[in-house]
Amino acid sequence: MRVVAVLNQKGGVGKTTTSVNTAHGLALSGESVLGLDLDPQGHLGVSFGFKGTEPGMDDVLLDNVPLAERRREGRERLDLVTAGARLPDVERMEGGQERGWRLRRAIDALDNGYGFLVMDCPPSSGLLAMNALLAADELLIPVYCDFLSLQGLSRLMKILHQIERRMGVWTRKHLVLVRYQQRRRLANEVRDKIREYFPGQLLRTHIRDNVSLAEAPGFGQSVFEHQPRSHGAEDYTELVRDLVEGRTVDGA
Ligand SMILES: Nc1ncnc2c1ncn2[C@@H]1O[C@H](COP(=O)(O)OP(=O)(O)O)[C@@H](O)[C@H]1O
Ligand SMILES: [Mg+2]
Repeated sequence: MRVVAVLNQKGGVGKTTTSVNTAHGLALSGESVLGLDLDPQGHLGVSFGFKGTEPGMDDVLLDNVPLAERRREGRERLDLVTAGARLPDVERMEGGQERGWRLRRAIDALDNGYGFLVMDCPPSSGLLAMNALLAADELLIPVYCDFLSLQGLSRLMKILHQIERRMGVWTRKHLVLVRYQQRRRLANEVRDKIREYFPGQLLRTHIRDNVSLAEAPGFGQSVFEHQPRSHGAEDYTELVRDLVEGRTVDGA
């Protein structure tokens, strides 16, 4: 099972869009997938047509309820655990280091029927994000094509390396450019810088700016359901192949 956290401390950078469409894209490609919503806003669940407040990750992280008891059928080959109304309380949990490892323990206890586990993370760096980081084998980091995002990415990568060293874990990091506009010079400059600073880590496919991706959650659908012939559907199909096959822009 590959455990993938879609992570970036910034909000509005395409984490949820990437989680939803990567999870569903993997399922459509034949993988068996479990999606976890670690953002108290519950947007992963909402994007698939749930309320998001159904008891889910809150029970798992606060009360150690097994993941298997809170998963719901999302789509064919895709199960989901929604955020739950009490998920914000996780950030205020009392206790020691153990609090950061709860998700990892819950995942270790899961029956091993899934090929992929995809976690949508909150736009913060508290206990929820720590649980995701300590549970993940791989991080999928969406990056906007502008200058400040590039700066933010450098800071994020530094912080991640520090935490990983301290906690004795290591994750493989995949970067994905989102809302890419090929005709903008800035977008290409940012892409070239990322290739230079983080060689071998930028996935081959760039997700173009595409209105279908923004509209789909309003229908409680992934882009594959809402507009299967859109650029958005095309790009996320390719991104799934990047992940499965390990394709990067550098051709590895
Ligand atoms: N490639 C894209 N093209 C157009 N709109 C996008 C794209 N990716 C994300 N969006 C929109 O940008 C906003 C923020 O994306 P979202 O995935 O919710 O970010 P996050 O989860 O990081 O906060 C949403 O309105 C989403 O629909
Ligand atoms: Mg989100």
